[in-house]
Amino acid sequence: MKLLIGNQKTYLNKEEVLKFIEFTKKSKCDDVIICPSYPFIDLYKEKSDFILGAQNVSEKVNGGTTGEISASQLKSLGVSYSIVGHSERRKDQGETNEQIVNKLNRLEEQGLNAIMCVGETLVQREKGIAKDFVASEIIETFDNINKDYLKNIIVAYEPIWAIGTGITPTNDEIIDMTNYIKDLIKDKYSVDLKVLYGGSVSKSNIDELNKIAEVDGYLIGGASTKEEFNYIIERNV
Ligand code: PGA
Repeated sequence: MKLLIGNQKTYLNKEEVLKFIEFTKKSKCDDVIICPSYPFIDLYKEKSDFILGAQNVSEKVNGGTTGEISASQLKSLGVSYSIVGHSERRKDQGETNEQIVNKLNRLEEQGLNAIMCVGETLVQREKGIAKDFVASEIIETFDNINKDYLKNIIVAYEPIWAIGTGITPTNDEIIDMTNYIKDLIKDKYSVDLKVLYGGSVSKSNIDELNKIAEVDGYLIGGASTKEEFNYIIERNV
């Protein structure tokens, strides 16, 4: 059984969220994590059985941080997880490993769990430095947080070139990177963490991906906003 996490980004408006909640009622959703847009967290809490995550969290505590959402606010909404370091934020908001450390500290203070995204660009993969880059993202973050919190982190390996493109690595490439990440974390920090795969997971490739025993689950973007999400949940046995 894989862990399924839906990252709904800003794909859905309120009406579409209500429709999504309605059609996913057909599937067993109480062990699936959905990370809705902030405005709809309450709606999911009220009307669905999903476990809730946020797509991001402020690196600061409550106070003068206009436009941000704090870890304590997320907690008060019944959220249990937050994504940190998604590549779209690293790229568009210039989010750094240092900021991700702050975010993990805020989540720890509130007893919330983290889904930390790592992954290389196509250029890095072609140059043969994908593993070095992913390792640097992990080490620069994990070296600087409380080691007791590590067990609360799920790592999502999301090659940037696979996100939203319909292109996925081969199963062998996913296995190779997943094993590398797990071994690195085990060797350096003596913990076994879950490692998910993310990037263009869909109805059309889920059966092939499900053959990979090494992967503990998926971080799913676009397909977690459509009816095909039911299919992905139902194939998860
Ligand atoms: P995608 O997004 O499934 O639409 O490629 C995954 C993600 O960004 O987490």
